[in-house]
Amino acid sequence: MTLHFGLEEYDRAADFVRARTEQQGISLSERRPIGLILGSGLNPLAEAIEEAVAIPFEEIPHFSTSTAPGHEGRLIVGQLAGKTVAAMQGRIHLYEGYSAEEITFPIRVMQRLGVETLILTNAAGGLNSSFRAGDFMLIEDHLNFVGMAGHNPLMGPNMDAFGTRFPSMTHAYPRFLRKAALESARELEVTLRQGVYAFLAGPNFETPAEVRYLRQVGADAVGMSTVPEALVAVHAGMKVLGISTITNVAIDQLDAESETSHEEVLETGRIVVPQLTALLMAILERI
Ligand code: HPA
Repeated sequence: MTLHFGLEEYDRAADFVRARTEQQGISLSERRPIGLILGSGLNPLAEAIEEAVAIPFEEIPHFSTSTAPGHEGRLIVGQLAGKTVAAMQGRIHLYEGYSAEEITFPIRVMQRLGVETLILTNAAGGLNSSFRAGDFMLIEDHLNFVGMAGHNPLMGPNMDAFGTRFPSMTHAYPRFLRKAALESARELEVTLRQGVYAFLAGPNFETPAEVRYLRQVGADAVGMSTVPEALVAVHAGMKVLGISTITNVAIDQLDAESETSHEEVLETGRIVVPQLTALLMAILERI
């Protein structure tokens, strides 16, 4: 397997971001930014970031552009809840036709920028029968169906500069971050459910048979992102926190009257933005 990116490419992108933010008076070398990725419908969350420098993905060397609706495609560096954050306003997915290496390029750039903690958000379909649209789910663990099928961003020659050949995923979502999220949710009286996130490639939503299967093998929510980013982040020594917005309840009946739509996903995402913003800010204050 040929890798297209070496340390040089990651560093070139990181140097570009560092220089651009320094022009605006933000020195990333002096702070440890927290990485943040905003999922479908969660773009407006970036508006809460203060003293922000917004860099379109297409201007950053080797970044892919985000083509999915509801994904702005900008890297926003600024202050949120008193912390410096580097936020991807919109993400890049496997279903857009990019490789696993391309969609996770920004994660390693974040590592070069000094990011040690990465917060991943996404929109997901609810599988657990107690979940409702608009709920939040703390990702405790994941099922990497795409990885099982042989598409993993860590395949190919190992990049020793980032991490080890066989990274452990036992503590992919470490307890201290999950605890901080649960305590923040309790403080705000926001319901934060917990569960296992199943990663499928998409772009189609699941069939009713797939929904029943996923539930049986222990998944609580299903989506088309997050896991590749988590793998690359953990490999690179970063601590990961994942929060899913349950934008819709996955449909498990053949003759159901309704069907899942992207509009529904975006609309629920939009509605919960204020709550999720408050939750993320409370978490940032704690960590
Ligand atoms: N399935 C997969 N991905 C999703 C869903 C879903 O039901 N909702 C939001 N992202």
